[in-house]
Amino acid sequence: MTEPGRCSAVALPFLRRRVPGRRETPYRMRVLFIGDVFASPGRRIVAESLPGLISSERLDLVIANGENAAGGFGITPAIADELFETGIDVITTGNHVWDKKEVFDYLDRQPRVLRPANYPGNLPGSGVHVGRGRNGVDAAVINLQGRTHMLAIDCPFRKADDILAKIDPAVKVRLVDFHAEITSEKVAMGRYLDGRVSAVIGTHTHIPTADARILPNGTAYQSDAGMTGAYDSVIGVDTAIILRRFLTGLPVRMEPAKGKVELHSVVIEVNEETGRAVSVRPLVIARD
Ligand code: FE2
Repeated sequence: MTEPGRCSAVALPFLRRRVPGRRETPYRMRVLFIGDVFASPGRRIVAESLPGLISSERLDLVIANGENAAGGFGITPAIADELFETGIDVITTGNHVWDKKEVFDYLDRQPRVLRPANYPGNLPGSGVHVGRGRNGVDAAVINLQGRTHMLAIDCPFRKADDILAKIDPAVKVRLVDFHAEITSEKVAMGRYLDGRVSAVIGTHTHIPTADARILPNGTAYQSDAGMTGAYDSVIGVDTAIILRRFLTGLPVRMEPAKGKVELHSVVIEVNEETGRAVSVRPLVIARD
């Protein structure tokens, strides 16, 4: 337990008994995993939607990938704090986490912003956070990054083994953001961790996949949660700019797209006593 969550452990069990429909035994911890929040359009729809979702979906824990939250490239301390204000509990990242230099010191000060655990250990920050959900139950969030068509950092599979060996066995709810390029590496990670974590959700491609399922040993899985940003775009960036790059091969200045915005996420219910997933489903919100 590195840091208490947003609600006190004393108050929550009482709160839990007072909420209608929350008497099931064992309790199902409800987790929302929000796909890559891209630039200001993504941040805006999170701010507009998340407070209502926390209530309507009775969410106990909210995780979001924020590596593209700052104009599509990286995250700053101020933007991370802004995302926490919306109700996000833990921010995961990926290859873009190092884009903004001001985040380096912040990663060591703010344990709820993760960077992939399989980067060299002497870099700032951590890839694991154990904190308390609104239901008073501890949950571990683990951030790993793939290596296929990505940087050749440490093996994410062996790093997952190392991390899981060190997490308190009493922490049953364990959620993995696997930030990777290709579906085969993501599926392999899901299978590798099946039965050892509650969920493996992929990020990075900004394209939601239609493969949400519970694997045979109880791990919820989706290859990619998708993007939270402007979908009238090329993975969040203005379409004309990206087409210019593909058609000419010349460098271009990336600009986030504008227009209709969608929030793509995954809702996972986890048996808090076993850590096994009970349900998993995509949740999408669209706004003009
Ligand atoms: Fe990425």
